[in-house]
Amino acid sequence: ARITLRQLLDHAAEHDYGVPAFNINNMEQALAIMAAADQTDSPVIIQASRGARAYAQDVMLKHMMDAVCEIYTHIPVCVHLDHGNAPATCMTAIQSGFTSVMMDGSLEADGKTPADWAYNVGVTKTVTDMAHLGGISVEGELGVLGSLETGMGDKEDGHGAEGKLSQDQLLTDPEEAVKFVQETKVDALAIAMGTSHGAYKFTRQPDGDILAMHVIEEIHRRLPDTHLVMHGSSSVPQDLQDIINQYGGEMPQTWGVPVEEIQRGIKNGVRKINIDTDNRMAMTGQIRKVLSENPGEFDPRKYLKPAREAMQKLCVARLEAFNTAGQA
Ligand code: G3H
Ligand code: 13P
Ligand code: NA
Ligand code: ZN
Repeated sequence: ARITLRQLLDHAAEHDYGVPAFNINNMEQALAIMAAADQTDSPVIIQASRGARAYAQDVMLKHMMDAVCEIYTHIPVCVHLDHGNAPATCMTAIQSGFTSVMMDGSLEADGKTPADWAYNVGVTKTVTDMAHLGGISVEGELGVLGSLETGMGDKEDGHGAEGKLSQDQLLTDPEEAVKFVQETKVDALAIAMGTSHGAYKFTRQPDGDILAMHVIEEIHRRLPDTHLVMHGSSSVPQDLQDIINQYGGEMPQTWGVPVEEIQRGIKNGVRKINIDTDNRMAMTGQIRKVLSENPGEFDPRKYLKPAREAMQKLCVARLEAFNTAGQA
């Protein structure tokens, strides 16, 4: 059954678990997530970005979501818009059956320029005013994602500011977070606390203190009823880098967010954990492997099936690690 983010994360808060939000662009990814949810008896958040909507078209996404809910009637599914850049983007997602939308007003509509307070509160409140009338949940974002290490905004795919950011922008201020939630009434709040989007998060092996846990803790203490969202939560596993590079890929060595750090976040109020890069890497590794071991192969199913299975395995591992497993 389709449920809202509010319903799902209220349950997660009550039972002390986190819920991974996996991105999809196509049928293979949707089926991989659902197979993982079924295997582990987990509720899931399936999210689609503006890029996914452009790639697959809203009608296709809508029917895919209807289809997975029909196939897996026993799995609670929240269908979420990832990084909506304007109220109109959120409204059209709702029209396509999304039960939750992110209005990311931390950046202006171009998705690059850090926005000021009035802009962020304004667009976010416009969305909550409308969405809540229809029982749809809203995620907002306060603070700008980027690397604390270098001060640089997200470099590759994903969404984040371009160029150098101050440490001030890179960590959400707890007092501002309280004001923001009071003014906008968001159900969930994405905060900046040390993660960034994409594969290239850290240039060194993180020493275990890479997330600003005190910031998460403080915001959670002041806003116990607002569910915290951690973007840029891929772990960028070494074995997935190795498979890609073993079969012709050229990914420079990089580090992501260790799963144990995310588990600490969940203990401190993080409820929604956004993961896309890990699944992209899991699929790409298998596609490279099959094609390089079988250069004569041209049936897409021959590489998409192992790709799906690799994504399912990644999703199962996260659902288990975040204690989502068994909560369906
Ligand atoms: O935050 C970004 C997600 O990984 C989606 O990326 O905009 O390339 O679809 P995308
Ligand atoms: P990753 O790039 O770390 O997977 O983050 C995805 C994300 O935050 C989507 O909103
Ligand atoms: Na989101
Ligand atoms: Zn994100």
